Amino acid sequence: MEKKTVEKLIVQALQAREFSYAPYSGYQVGAALLTADGHVYTGCNIENAAYSPTNCAERTAFFKAVSEGKKDFCAIAVAGGPAGEEIAQYAYPCGVCRQVMMEFCDPQTFEIIVAKSKDEYQVKKLCELLPEGFGPSNLSGQEP
Ligand code: THU
Repeated sequence: MEKKTVEKLIVQALQAREFSYAPYSGYQVGAALLTADGHVYTGCNIENAAYSPTNCAERTAFFKAVSEGKKDFCAIAVAGGPAGEEIAQYAYPCGVCRQVMMEFCDPQTFEIIVAKSKDEYQVKKLCELLPEGFGPSNLSGQEP
């Protein structure tokens, strides 16, 4: 993916992080999901007093997109860290979010961009973060 596109996606993830609702962990995450037709769906983590209903930023972005009819995705940018601090570590997607990605994305091509800033980031393929993942092809009996 072009550097400009990656940088734009990271900026959108950082902006989405501003809306993070994380009163319990204080860990704020933003995500920006790029569709195959060039749209971007953003998301933030949304926590809950009962804890388990908490939704990660990545899943918020995916569920927004899928609920609006999108099912083809190219990449997601993710930025997370403690509220009020500069982002010092890469926030890799949790296992549940990786599994949601596996449902809708080609693991060989879908790119996960984890960012500290627009200039400091890493890019991984879903197949690197979820090797031998279980997905729709397992149930359809088709080649992945
Ligand atoms: N979180 C995300 O939003 N994405 C991840 O992939 C990892 C964790 C959120 C969930 C919770 O609100 C906070 O970060 C601490 O776990």
